[in-house]
Amino acid sequence: MRRVAIAGTGSYLPKKVLSNHDLEKLVDTTNEWILTRTGISERRIASDKEATSDLCAEAAKCALDSAGLSSADIGLIVVATITPDMPFPSTACLVQQAIGAEAAFCMDLEAACSGFIYALETARLYVASGHVNNALVIGGETLSRATDWHDRSTCVLFGDGAGAVVVRRAVRGMGIMACSMGSDGRLWDLLKIPAGGSRMPATHETVEARLHTIKMEGREVFKHAVKCMTDACVSALNKAGLNKEDIAWIIPHQANRRIISAIAERLEFPMEKVYVNLDRVGNMSGASVPVALDELVRSGKVNSGDRLLFVAFGGGFTWGATVIEWE
Ligand code: ACO
Repeated sequence: MRRVAIAGTGSYLPKKVLSNHDLEKLVDTTNEWILTRTGISERRIASDKEATSDLCAEAAKCALDSAGLSSADIGLIVVATITPDMPFPSTACLVQQAIGAEAAFCMDLEAACSGFIYALETARLYVASGHVNNALVIGGETLSRATDWHDRSTCVLFGDGAGAVVVRRAVRGMGIMACSMGSDGRLWDLLKIPAGGSRMPATHETVEARLHTIKMEGREVFKHAVKCMTDACVSALNKAGLNKEDIAWIIPHQANRRIISAIAERLEFPMEKVYVNLDRVGNMSGASVPVALDELVRSGKVNSGDRLLFVAFGGGFTWGATVIEWE
């Protein structure tokens, strides 16, 4: 098996900013409640003309640029999303058309907020086995389209955006060193969009009851998120044969600042080395980790040889952590 590395990163955020003060006008909430309970100040909202594939295509172009590759070099596109443009065709096929990556085969992957970790590992295996040389892995969401704007306990949390990476054979160093993933389908009911699938197809009643939006048992999700993300970090570090002291940055899924701090505390890992951007972008589900990674890389704070630890948790439940050595 070949070693596989991230060769470039990109991201795209829609222009429109929705602040906590804007939300005070929509639901019974306050800037102070949102900030203290979540750490979020504002989030981005896609325009009426933008769907998930549009955000993903912009992030993909940016990642291709940074990798010094063209769309013709791409053999595989995997899009991690819970807000595809439509049930089918896949959002990945729409991205393929938008960027002109005609040589690629394309698919979506659904693992909620852990989607990017799952998609990266999937692409790694295709590149490692020699099935393709270069792959685009994208996490993209327009969660604003799946948000119940009457439910103050969820509508303050989510944002829209996309992040992308190009993966290819490692040139120097280890590249992707280890990945640990898990799921627990017994807990599917705690975080979901109930309607719009084959179990509860769309009807006037389901639309009126807003069953096509995200429903969440926040406290339960919180508890499991802290435990599963902490355990996933330990498991990925063990698989990589590394200690937490070897890690330059943890890049976690950006659901809640309190979840992130609790994980850092349990791992006894300094918060200064945990990248947090949720104050500006909120929870972007599968887009959280790749957008955060792109910001961190572009800020110049990631050096060649640095070990990074990505970790995420989401509906399903699903979770995963990946250790990489940066080229
Ligand atoms: N403004 C003001 N009050 C609010 C708001 C709001 N926006 N939302 C809830 N409240 C109230 C509740 O009604 C409740 O009032 P009560 O005590 O009178 O009943 C009180 O605040 C406390 O509510 P909790 O839900 O217990 O608040 P909590 O501290 O748990 O914070 C939150 C809620 C932020 C959702 C937290 O539970 C959380 O972050 N959960 C995890 C989310 C997550 O990790 N998601 C990951 C995956 S997301 C995905 O996969 C798409």
